[in-house]
Amino acid sequence: MIKISTLLLTLALTALPSAFVYADSSTLAATPPMGWNSWNHFKRKTDDAIVRAQAEAMVTSGMRDAGYVYINIDDAWEGERDSSGEIHTNSKFPDMKALADFVHSKGLKLGLYSSPGIKTCAGFAGSYGHEFQDAKTYASWGIDYLKYDLCGLRVQMKAAGSDVVAEEMMKHAYTKMRDGLLASGRPILYSLCQYGHNQVWQWGASVGGNAWRTTGDINDNFKSMVSIGFHQAGLSKYAGPGHWNDPDMLEIGNGGMTTSEYQIHMSLWAILAAPLLAGNDLTTMTQATKDILLNKEVIAIDQDKLGKQGDRVYAEGSVEVWSRDLADGSKAVGLFNLADTKSHMVLDFEKLGLTTQAKGRDLWLHKDIGAIAPGYNATLPPHSVLLLKISQ
Ligand code: GLA
Repeated sequence: MIKISTLLLTLALTALPSAFVYADSSTLAATPPMGWNSWNHFKRKTDDAIVRAQAEAMVTSGMRDAGYVYINIDDAWEGERDSSGEIHTNSKFPDMKALADFVHSKGLKLGLYSSPGIKTCAGFAGSYGHEFQDAKTYASWGIDYLKYDLCGLRVQMKAAGSDVVAEEMMKHAYTKMRDGLLASGRPILYSLCQYGHNQVWQWGASVGGNAWRTTGDINDNFKSMVSIGFHQAGLSKYAGPGHWNDPDMLEIGNGGMTTSEYQIHMSLWAILAAPLLAGNDLTTMTQATKDILLNKEVIAIDQDKLGKQGDRVYAEGSVEVWSRDLADGSKAVGLFNLADTKSHMVLDFEKLGLTTQAKGRDLWLHKDIGAIAPGYNATLPPHSVLLLKISQ
């Protein structure tokens, strides 16, 4: 068992940067990262063959060309360290460099997962004490993305008798790997995963994060998705090019929600400028799943160049209206009916900052809906969204 004092001393050896070091937003995460991650669907069962099949499906489904480029292997790829401390893959991933070459040959990028703890969340080898060495290994394999999950360190602290991981300790741990990644010489997108503790949105960018999880883990059901997604209100000012709030990966296509509930998921994540990391099996997608993940008009909202995250404008009972300002001067406006019954909603022009009559387009029906004037109203089926692009 590691003593808390030893942990603190080791982590304290890495000083915090004197100034914020933002990642290079011109190349890394200028817009929210898009791709696929193994965890939501495959959990610990991921292996080389699955990852290759997902990469191939990413291309053949049209997802790569729609912007999804990261193929991210989550926890459970790790093997043992050798006598020089170098991390190796486990038997499910016989050759990570060859896998990265394969993924790159498809015009995609490869991501990995680790933890600042001795162990990862699923109990595999974490990066504690090997941060620079691991970053160098990742770079030598051709890794392009790292999800760094606090979980292991939290478990370690609990075992050492503390219920909390102090903020300074988290910052030191994240800064250390940030420095390791920078020293590796390879641009590697850095995604922090510590569930939103200690208002990470206020300091995630200062420790090098290109994205930071703002919540606990999402599950494939309406309640989980709604409670995570609609609790993002108020965080918009912390995100921007190179550094994004991350309300966790997508569950679209995993089967636990209806098509219109998954449309809510995709619409809200786009308004939130959230990373769009598909979490389903891309080799067996239904047409309905493809229509959601590949909706180019909704993806364009998420990837809008202005990089301004949207927020809740107002809510009436279970109907919420969220809006996001876009680079061309228009707005994406989502009317979300979270009720189990149909609801009627009048669009509040003043609250939305709309002055005169405007033009609307329905981004799920892919249809211009003509003039939208004050008093515009809609009846929304239960658990549904009307996602509009409104230009004046
Ligand atoms: C945590 C993370 C998940 C996933 C698992 C892997 O729970 O929040 O997204 O990475 O660990 O063990």
